[in-house]
Amino acid sequence: MRMVDLIAKKRDGGALTKEEINFFINAYTNGDIPDYQVSSLMMAIFFQDMTDDERADLTMAMVKSGDEIDLSSIEGIKVDKHSTGGVGDTTTLVLAPLVAALDVPVAKMSGRGLGHTGGTIDKLEAVEGFHVEITEQEFAGIVNRDKVAVIGQSGNLTPADKKLYALRDVTATVNSIPLIASSIMSKKIAAGADAIVLDVKTGDGAFMKSEADAVALAKAMVSIGNNVGRNTMAIISSMAEPLGRAIGNALEVREAIETLRGEGPSDLTALCLELGAQMTVLGGKAETLEEAKGKLKEVIDNGKALEKFKVFLSNQGGDASVVDDVSKLPQAEYQIEVKAGTSGYIEEIAAEELGVASAMLGAGRQTKEDVIDLAVGLMLEKKVGDRVDAGETLAVIHSNREEVEEVKQKILDNYIIGGSEVNIELIKQVITE
Ligand code: URA
Ligand code: CA
Repeated sequence: MRMVDLIAKKRDGGALTKEEINFFINAYTNGDIPDYQVSSLMMAIFFQDMTDDERADLTMAMVKSGDEIDLSSIEGIKVDKHSTGGVGDTTTLVLAPLVAALDVPVAKMSGRGLGHTGGTIDKLEAVEGFHVEITEQEFAGIVNRDKVAVIGQSGNLTPADKKLYALRDVTATVNSIPLIASSIMSKKIAAGADAIVLDVKTGDGAFMKSEADAVALAKAMVSIGNNVGRNTMAIISSMAEPLGRAIGNALEVREAIETLRGEGPSDLTALCLELGAQMTVLGGKAETLEEAKGKLKEVIDNGKALEKFKVFLSNQGGDASVVDDVSKLPQAEYQIEVKAGTSGYIEEIAAEELGVASAMLGAGRQTKEDVIDLAVGLMLEKKVGDRVDAGETLAVIHSNREEVEEVKQKILDNYIIGGSEVNIELIKQVITE
């Protein structure tokens, strides 16, 4: 097989066979074909698209390029959840104990935050003693007994995707539906998921700015999942503002505890119920999304979800007493209010820029080696649609340094106050096939 023939075939609108896809993925992973040929093929795919079969074959070729996590010793249908990336996205902290309380096994592999988005492991490490350095055997044992555990990312997962992503990043070929969909799905499948729930964000702070693009990406991923034997569903949700009120590690743990207690922000609660319902149905613990939602509300109301969060934390060394006393979480030295300069309605809160503001306080990393401050971040007092009077507090900065003028200005610049009462539709679509 010659790479140049594959490039020509795709350039002319043909469909690559499974053998051809396996050939170029294997050869590229091994360093046997040069970047310039692969970037040419990526550009041809960008313009000519891929069929459903090609997308499924590409996904599985990338899965097979490295280690696959074997979760077969864990009983039940292991359901994983993936978000395409948001700011203040506290959903995983809520969802893991919430659906585990209905006996859906959650065997989650998570990462750390980079740039303006946070990572689940960093957030959990705000709980004194919590750690993800457990062996795969301990991990499986905990999930079998208590239905929930989190482990750190394994090094050699989907090496083909790592190489392709780095290449796409510098050849203007990231923004291609078949390439994004296969990239994301390959990582979830290699991490051992039997079923997958996707939270595809749309809006200013998201990867997919328009709803139509987000829907196309979601449909592509759902189709890949179902074609390779992993039941998959998706939600299209808005990233027109940060999710919930907390942005920052310990602050988000507190927000997750409040949400598991039934006292969380309405947008975060609604999204967790939708995603949780899909996880519950795919996990075989309810027939319909409605039934699942009812069961989830029940474990929030009767305290089982919160109890599960305590078990989850203490199984991995965490001090579970923070759940009953959130003042034990790391606290920042200064709490500085940011006040509105004018009156009106909040029309917009630029999610990504607020993520950057939180990172500037030390809540996020610029490089992988940076040490983050778990206590700092932002609490949003006002959300889109809220009425505000000049002088009222928009947000509170939690900081360990007194001087925060730059952060304050960034928040003011990105809170748009105007005359219209905007209403954000959080959950735009539910995609089940
Ligand atoms: N995220 C991924 O994991 N892969 C892509 O291709 C784009 C976003
Ligand atoms: Ca949040």
